[in-house]
Amino acid sequence: MPVGQGPRGLLGARPRGPSRRGAALSGLTVDVHLGPDDLAEALRADARLGLTSTPKFMPPKWLYDHRGSELFTEITRQPEYYPTESERRLLRQTADEIAAAAKSDTLVELGSGTSEKTRLLLDSLNKNGELAKFIPFDVSEATLRAAGAAIRAEYPNVAVHAVVGDFDHHLEEIPRSGRRLVAFLGSTIGNLGPSDRQAFLRRLARTFAPDDRLLLGVDLVKDVGRLEAAYNDAAGVTARFTHNLLTVMNRELEADFDLDGFVHEARWQPEHSWIRIGLRSRRRQKVSLGEIDLSVEFADGELMRTEVSSKFRRESLSDELEASGLQTVSWWDNGDVALTLAAPS
Ligand code: AVJ
Repeated sequence: MPVGQGPRGLLGARPRGPSRRGAALSGLTVDVHLGPDDLAEALRADARLGLTSTPKFMPPKWLYDHRGSELFTEITRQPEYYPTESERRLLRQTADEIAAAAKSDTLVELGSGTSEKTRLLLDSLNKNGELAKFIPFDVSEATLRAAGAAIRAEYPNVAVHAVVGDFDHHLEEIPRSGRRLVAFLGSTIGNLGPSDRQAFLRRLARTFAPDDRLLLGVDLVKDVGRLEAAYNDAAGVTARFTHNLLTVMNRELEADFDLDGFVHEARWQPEHSWIRIGLRSRRRQKVSLGEIDLSVEFADGELMRTEVSSKFRRESLSDELEASGLQTVSWWDNGDVALTLAAPS
């Protein structure tokens, strides 16, 4: 889910409110439901809530400014971080089967980022000659514009209708015409715990017509050693990624977090079936956030949670989908990660 906000951070100058920009001739339309003002306000609200809660937490979306998105890409290249390459391999093996099963003419990609794995799906859907539209959805307008233009150039017969928005507020704004395949890959859904997942899937399912399909990519429960290593790479890239949250808050919220005052921690918690990721304070310390007039105390050893990365089992995931109004129609896995195709039930 690269939600990079562009080179100037969260706050570039841009008009407020939903806007549509695009030319019918270029075949690229961009609906903007989310601007820098909205992002800045959301960050302030999340920091006020998360840093005054016990235990402290911050939503993971704030990890992905321009630098954070770069660091995430670097994570995906670390030898310990298997999910990205493993899913790509599985998708390469199954994309034709997925396309044949879904018979879609519209591909929607949630948290599309640079739409890299998307090409595998576009190629397979294109073979039947019925693919008409690609709808990437992401919080970053810059990322969507670049990805959208690239897809237009590579697939001249496919119209691109990009939607800039976030999962909390704009799922309902995604166009509903056509037979849609809604792809949510990369185990991005793992950033949500069970109850948030349920709410998310329910909202998504409510937007589905009978012929729409969900393609969900998840990471599977596996050996603890491999799970924890994936989030504690030897080169320390994941630690830098987590620490980048402090850089974001220092810049956007006029905060004075000392990066050396916190240690990255990623631990498997079997009772939640997730990797909990956070920053543990090395000492008792006080942090000020000028932009929101907030001062917070960290105890020695106190953890601020920055992410959970949920891991899944076939049975329980299919139960979760079922409880959200979706039924599993196909399942592919390679032992490490899984792809599941689901239809409205
Ligand atoms: C983008 C949420 C799938 O949980 O594996 C990777 C994020 N954080 N390393 C994951 C992440 C630290 C990643 N997701």
